Amino acid sequence: MSEEYIKVISSGPLHGEVSVAGAKNAVLVSMAATLLADGESILTNVPISSDVRYMAILLQCLGAEVALDEERKLVTVDTRSVCCFTVNPDVMKKMRASVLVMGPLLARFSQAKLVFPGGCSIGARPINYHLKNFKKMGVEIHYVDEVLHAKTKKLQSCRIALEYPSVGATENILMAAVLTEGTTTIVNAALEPEVLDLIEALQCMGARIVICPAAIIQITGVTSLKPMNHSVIPDRLEAGSLLLAGAVTGGDVFVTNARAYDMDIFLMKLQEMGHKIEVGLNGNGVRIKATQLPEAVSFKTGPYPGFPTDLQSPMMVAQCLATGTCEIHETVFENRFLHVRELQKMGAQIKCISGSGLACSGGICSGGACSVGDCSVGDCDKVQVTGVEALYGTNVIATDIRASCALVLAGMAAKGKTVMTGVDHWRRGYDKLEEKLVGLGAQLQIETGYKMSRCFGQEIALKE
Ligand code: EPZ
Repeated sequence: MSEEYIKVISSGPLHGEVSVAGAKNAVLVSMAATLLADGESILTNVPISSDVRYMAILLQCLGAEVALDEERKLVTVDTRSVCCFTVNPDVMKKMRASVLVMGPLLARFSQAKLVFPGGCSIGARPINYHLKNFKKMGVEIHYVDEVLHAKTKKLQSCRIALEYPSVGATENILMAAVLTEGTTTIVNAALEPEVLDLIEALQCMGARIVICPAAIIQITGVTSLKPMNHSVIPDRLEAGSLLLAGAVTGGDVFVTNARAYDMDIFLMKLQEMGHKIEVGLNGNGVRIKATQLPEAVSFKTGPYPGFPTDLQSPMMVAQCLATGTCEIHETVFENRFLHVRELQKMGAQIKCISGSGLACSGGICSGGACSVGDCSVGDCDKVQVTGVEALYGTNVIATDIRASCALVLAGMAAKGKTVMTGVDHWRRGYDKLEEKLVGLGAQLQIETGYKMSRCFGQEIALKE
């Protein structure tokens, strides 16, 4: 079966200016939030990606009328005909964000039927924080044939402490609480920019939400909400990726609508590498003038405002080509180093230095590049990267959205040609990012015609 692949040729320094689309992780939850009101909601600055299309289908399956305007980057959701609280299982499994309709369905129907969500395979990704706190709000949850049945006589307001500042759990509880009588308090809430964007959208619908120190959100339920008319925030993750494209090619890139104050730690790390970072007035717009002699810097991912886990893999590429050695510690997801093996195939010097498991019979845990290619870095939470003179193009496979971005960046910086399959991940996370990179001087395009085959345990792309 032929499939798409991205062919990347060694690109010289990228130059020019570019703007980012709306944030994927903000638009998806706001689309789910439209279920909280009856009427036509309008979302603008929408990235037209596969995940947005999946969310549109999911809402349509519930009875909503959804229209995507690709030209004007907007989506309208009319919920007046929503009559169903059972989520289509096939769509549910397409992405993690599908779980975010659970809160709104409980608020609208006092019940919801759904299967476990899909999403990037970067860890187990349970939804226990969502479920245990819905139970605290008076929801009974049963499993029948792998379908989760959630039902309540009446949602109860209460004080909820999150043992981990989960983005999705914060968002789901928020959306259940806005129509729940009384005051619900979320302690240790996630406060990522995408969560704050949801709060702004809910407030524009009439919700009463206050953010208190430290990381406490208080929601006072109201009896009804009006449809939203909301412009989605620019995507800090796409902005970071475009800046890193400038960094790894030694170029000069200006991201005109990047919100610098959403990415302080990330920008600080780029400066520590020696790159010149210029920030526009009030943090609007970020320019990178890359140094030709970047220094490797260590970093650790964490909940906002820590270094974003979704920029870990593309930032790793920048370390692979920097002078010196650094450590990268992934603390958010337990299996988010799947891109390591692909980068090693390109000549990167990366080895696992801590973590409980290493199914490696050739070496990343013992310090050498893996020789037999069947190693996995499962359960590894810290790697050591030693910069190399160059990476070399080859066949690589994208395993998740952010890994696909990392491998494209690596291909632009590498000598020779890189063919990346797993383009569905790329399409899930970005709205024509390939066109933006080409506009900056990258040499890449999406083609069709490879089929995957396994030889000696290796997946390789064979031209049809
Ligand atoms: C959101 O995922 C984003 N996805 C992720 O982006 C992002 O990496 C993540 O937040 C962290 O910032 C969307 O918004 C659609 P979490 P989410 O709940 O909500 C564990 C991308 O590439 N956990 O904050 O799933 C979980 O396994 C994606 O755009 C539980 O154990 O993230 C993880 O280890 C990837 N039980 C950690 O908490 C739960 O009930 C953080 O998860 C929920 C989460």
